[in-house]
Amino acid sequence: MKKERVAVIGSGNWGSAITRIMANNVIEHGNLFERDINMWVFEELVNNRKLTELINEKHENVKYLPGYKLPNNVRAVPDLIETVQEATILVFVVPHQFVLKVCEKLKGKISSDVKAISLIKGFHVSESGLKPITHVISEYLNINVASLSGANIANEIADEKFSETTIGYTNVKEGELFKILFQTKYFRVGIIDDVVGVELCGALKNVVAIGAGIVDGLKMGDNTKAAVIRIGLLEMRKFMQTFYSGIKDETFFQSCGIADVITSCYGGRNRKVAEAFVLTKKPFEQLEKEMLNGQKLQGTLTAKEVYQVTKRKDLEKEFPLFTTIYRIAYDGLAPERIVKDIV
Ligand code: NAD
Ligand code: 13P
Repeated sequence: MKKERVAVIGSGNWGSAITRIMANNVIEHGNLFERDINMWVFEELVNNRKLTELINEKHENVKYLPGYKLPNNVRAVPDLIETVQEATILVFVVPHQFVLKVCEKLKGKISSDVKAISLIKGFHVSESGLKPITHVISEYLNINVASLSGANIANEIADEKFSETTIGYTNVKEGELFKILFQTKYFRVGIIDDVVGVELCGALKNVVAIGAGIVDGLKMGDNTKAAVIRIGLLEMRKFMQTFYSGIKDETFFQSCGIADVITSCYGGRNRKVAEAFVLTKKPFEQLEKEMLNGQKLQGTLTAKEVYQVTKRKDLEKEFPLFTTIYRIAYDGLAPERIVKDIV
């Protein structure tokens, strides 16, 4: 049987943490996978050195996941096309705003029997509305695309603290293969027949996490945050079931659903920056630069994208939490309205 060769497209905080896991797993399951993994790095200078050179020399992503070694079978590659050459499995893990450019570059260069999985939490805005990222990749590259999403704060997983995740598959054999690629003793993988449900939970929970950060900035307490989590989860389900078909209720009880909402509302970057937004009154864009050292927020952009769709369909009032979060982030609405406008 021909072995699978994995290439990773992305190398941020999560991209690097998950690549460490895959790099160990491909060795452990050497009967199924080739040993070497190429990881595409969006090239930049760090202390006047190319990041790819630093990663390959130190076996560590010194900018996006400092302090954690990458196994020697990972090679950082600045050229996207070179990264995917010979790969039979593509793992997409770039911030969602960059995925289209990546797909445009890869178009026509990927064989139709290549398998792919997206770990990206976000949507793509198209004329017809918000398109799941798995559909964008699938349409551009003409390949089947699964999704992986869960309560997965990257640094905690790099620390090998127990976590769960969810893989959404269309083809159960592929789902099981991906499970072997990602699962470890401390990183437990559930699989479910709901690609879009899994990925859209990951996209929308980032908006709820902005709401949780606003509540934290206002020091409103745990009951208020729990209310935002509960209402947020209901709006996530309503949004997904209004605009997409085949979303399973069961998906919301997997790691990608309720668990990711909770961890993101307590520990994530969106929460942290939204709290600072309330405390400092600085714009999100400025805080992202000041606080995240090149890492990217997904929740503010997704809040705007969700609002554009609900407004276009005259449905803003059906999603009072999402709408209020958008207005606080972009329209100068007072943060205190986070609770006043949703009851
Ligand atoms: P990140 O936010 O840590 O890093 C940003 C990345 O974007 C860097 O690799 C940077 O090189 C790259 N980049 C900057 N400009 C670019 C451009 N023009 N084109 C392409 N790439 C560019 O990245 P991350 O945490 O790996 O996030 C990737 C996805 O994974 C996101 O959708 C995120 O929501 C999701 N995710 C993150 C975590 C986490 O804890 N970090 C956990 C689960 C899922
Ligand atoms: P943040 O991007 O808010 O850090 O969330 C990370 C995440 O997706 C945890 O599952």
